Amino acid sequence: MATRTQNRTSNRSNSSSTSDRSSSSGGASNQNRSAFSWGEGAAPVIAAALGGAMIGFAANYGRKALKQGMEAAIGDWDQILAAEHDEALALFDKMLATDETQTFKRKMLFMKLCHALDKHAHEEEMVVYPALREANEAGDADHLEGEHGYIKTFIYDLNEMGPDSPTWLEKVREFRDLVSRHAHMEEEQGFPRFKRAMSEEQNAHVTSLVNRDGFWMA
Ligand SMILES: [Fe+2]
Ligand SMILES: [Fe+2]
Repeated sequence: MATRTQNRTSNRSNSSSTSDRSSSSGGASNQNRSAFSWGEGAAPVIAAALGGAMIGFAANYGRKALKQGMEAAIGDWDQILAAEHDEALALFDKMLATDETQTFKRKMLFMKLCHALDKHAHEEEMVVYPALREANEAGDADHLEGEHGYIKTFIYDLNEMGPDSPTWLEKVREFRDLVSRHAHMEEEQGFPRFKRAMSEEQNAHVTSLVNRDGFWMA
């Protein structure tokens, strides 16, 4: 019985004798073709792959434009962020309405919540909090950004415990309380004070920056 090594050796010698035959039978064009060269038949495949990638890119671009376009229609930067707070709190409420048997639903809602919070935190941390610091409101900005760290800790904890944990709902409830308190502080104190001190141009500028950041994160 031939061993696996013998079989591999014999296959190699068979294939090399086949290629010897093809080159000796006048395959001159094959002599210059490396292992990485593309045959003429590959062109339609490459074109189809590029076409698919372009369609995917356009679809994703369209989805982002639609999502952020809808948010931009809400109004100024603070109104957009307040609407995102409401969206996140509504997702928490859906999560709190589940039971231990609905693990798939819990996972999907949690994934959606993580994406929404990630986008929201990016808009605040890359635009609004730096603008707050520029306006001598570093205390507020640092406190709020510190709370974002604890929001990420809740996400970490929920990922670790899994959706079937008996303490999942309790953890989600504590998480919601933190997000609700944080959102309340932004909407009732930090953001209105900042907005009152802004010129119309500054307000429009921060709004456009939030929309641009939100577009890429959507
Ligand atoms: Fe925040
Ligand atoms: Fe916020």
